[in-house]
Amino acid sequence: MCETCNASYPVVDGIPHIHLDDHTWRSKKAESAGREALAAELGQLHYEGIGAPPVDFEIPYIPHEPWATFGRGFDKLFGDLEIGGADTLDIGAGRPWAAKQFALRGARSATAVDVNPHPVVGLGRGWEMAAEAGVHLELLVGDSERLPLADNSMDICFISAALHHSNFIRNLTSEMARVLRPGGVAVVANEPTRAAFEDEATVLNEVAQLELRHGITERRPTAAEYLEAMLAAGFDIEQVHLGPDCRDSAIWTRLKAPALVPPRQDWASIKTPVRIARAIRTRWRLWPFEHRLRKVLPRSSSGARSSHAEMISLVYGRPDINIVARVAR
Ligand SMILES: C[S@@+](CC[C@H](N)C(=O)[O-])C[C@H]1O[C@@H](n2cnc3c(N)ncnc32)[C@H](O)[C@@H]1O
Repeated sequence: MCETCNASYPVVDGIPHIHLDDHTWRSKKAESAGREALAAELGQLHYEGIGAPPVDFEIPYIPHEPWATFGRGFDKLFGDLEIGGADTLDIGAGRPWAAKQFALRGARSATAVDVNPHPVVGLGRGWEMAAEAGVHLELLVGDSERLPLADNSMDICFISAALHHSNFIRNLTSEMARVLRPGGVAVVANEPTRAAFEDEATVLNEVAQLELRHGITERRPTAAEYLEAMLAAGFDIEQVHLGPDCRDSAIWTRLKAPALVPPRQDWASIKTPVRIARAIRTRWRLWPFEHRLRKVLPRSSSGARSSHAEMISLVYGRPDINIVARVAR
């Protein structure tokens, strides 16, 4: 029973399912079922298939990729943030490894929300992870676009690789702003982008066919769309990092990435003068996007909004984006 609205919700395997069974939940239900179907297809629906102990217990500090790189990025994002004593929320938590890390670092509360309660690939895995770590987690099945939490109840909201599964990313960023206390921090990690000149459906068809086939919601916003969604929700953007390890030098490898090439062409086979002419034309066409992006990027300590290389990567590449933002006080 919810003490605020007096509605009753079921508790299954110790996890409250706090959502209405209405039309908005239908696509989330499909998302959850699709994730389990995909995991089954990949042979991951048993403990040996995915994260057999000790793997789940060590995420994100696993010595092989992609986790090894991401573990470093996670540390960089939380380097300056005070987690001790904070009320923390892990949104689209999956196996709630981040909530567990917050609890281990002395958070006052560590809550994890996801649409999927599965005991191996979803939230339900949190029970064993918490028991092994000796911490307490609050696990909730609910929708990130309608967070089942009170206004001004959190100090830190974390979302990793889940914002791009949202139908309406602005709903999600507004929800983060709603549940955060004034001055609270949102950390968005590991969200894939598309280049400014790319069509979203074409990119998804290229990179996310498996997920789409299973009914999983997939989006590929541009970097500017993510940043604008945060600004629209009332956040001040404090840091933007590119690449899974947040080492911005990773963008140099992106400069050589195929996304730089006009779609459906073999860049190497095109003669150099034609290549240069096309690059200039594309740059010219994308100038309005670049201008928009420059306005929303935060300033670095040197006062610059972004380096030329970062800008090239954001406009022409598909770097994963990481954002640290604060709700205005
Ligand atoms: C790629 S996984 C990332 C899981 C975890 N954050 C991580 O980094 O390992 C995306 C997660 O988002 C969850 N998700 C997708 N849509 C959601 C929604 N509307 N509300 C809550 N969780 C959602 C999925 O069930 C899945 O666990």
